[in-house]
Amino acid sequence: MPSQDLAVEVCNITKSFGAVNALSGIDMEVPKGTILGLLGPNGAGKTTAVRILTTLLKPDSGTARIEGIDLVRSPERVREVIGLTGQAMAIRDELTGKENLMMVGRLFHLPKKTLAARADELLERFGLTDAAQRAAKTYSGGMRRRLDLAASLISRPKVLFLDEPTTGLDPRSRIGMWEVIKELVAGGTSVLLTTQYLEEADELADGIVVIDRGTVIALGTSSELKDRVGGNVIEFFVPDSEARERAALAVAHLGTHLPTLDSTNNNVTLRVGSAGSKALVEAVRALDAADITVEELGLRRPSLDDVFLSLTGHEAKPDSEALKEGQL
Ligand SMILES: Nc1ncnc2c1ncn2[C@@H]1O[C@H](COP(=O)(O)OP(=O)(O)OP(=O)(O)O)[C@@H](O)[C@H]1O
Ligand SMILES: [Mg+2]
Repeated sequence: MPSQDLAVEVCNITKSFGAVNALSGIDMEVPKGTILGLLGPNGAGKTTAVRILTTLLKPDSGTARIEGIDLVRSPERVREVIGLTGQAMAIRDELTGKENLMMVGRLFHLPKKTLAARADELLERFGLTDAAQRAAKTYSGGMRRRLDLAASLISRPKVLFLDEPTTGLDPRSRIGMWEVIKELVAGGTSVLLTTQYLEEADELADGIVVIDRGTVIALGTSSELKDRVGGNVIEFFVPDSEARERAALAVAHLGTHLPTLDSTNNNVTLRVGSAGSKALVEAVRALDAADITVEELGLRRPSLDDVFLSLTGHEAKPDSEALKEGQL
């Protein structure tokens, strides 16, 4: 794609922290007016990439252009066109919602006259008008996320970086956040988004880049990535963990790969290639012969979760490490 059509163009960026190669030469592109989903297991390098692209961290080598502006040569010009909502964005607890937005606006040197009106407009848009005069410390997690996003929009950025914008939100708040992000993109904003929730990438992202250990391991649309896994997946649910293991063993011979057991969702998934309904019938027989009762059994297309698992060997769910690091 020609450079003038790209909001973000990343070329061979590397970054190490001591012995850790957080990024070992990544390339990616965000076409203008689209959402790129950056996926990867914990520690893959997503936040490092976002911090570099938002000028918070210098790359060791490589280049990037944001709206055509060279990141390394002109970081201060890049800052004028971007917004960042992050895992660690600072909201001042003692300030009210409106004061927080005014503070950010002053950092961007926005004229006083327009700033208050802009803050009110954003508070309204994010359903925070009633809470505008309350200290941010009284806000719920969902309200804080919305305030954080509002703050990143004060300067009307052309390119928005969202690092796990909905982690820890309840399903309803998450869907609300998705609507806001879609509206922004419809209005011409370009977005680079990291997420641990693959249904979020499925819902929002025009393009997806999967990274693992600092390297791009796959890219394409959600549908292209699913086609790469190919074939069908049998999925069934067994609440009891011991029975679930026996069930996985009973059907393992029908799969093209080993079955996957998930103790969070209590399910077993098995990739069966093109075997389809025949494999499903065989699976019912095998489970019956092993005297295992399952809840919900079906055949489906691979999900983005299956893609992620087959690419990285990890599940995409936030793990206990992330909890320990206080990222949730
Ligand atoms: N400031 C730092 N000092 C040392 N190591 C770091 C630093 N920041 C990141 N790392 C390391 O770089 C690697 C990539 O981390 P990064 O935070 O970019 O991962 P991530 O993909 O955002 O993970 P998560 O899904 O957990 O948010 C990890 O091994 C991490 O420990
Ligand atoms: Mg991160």
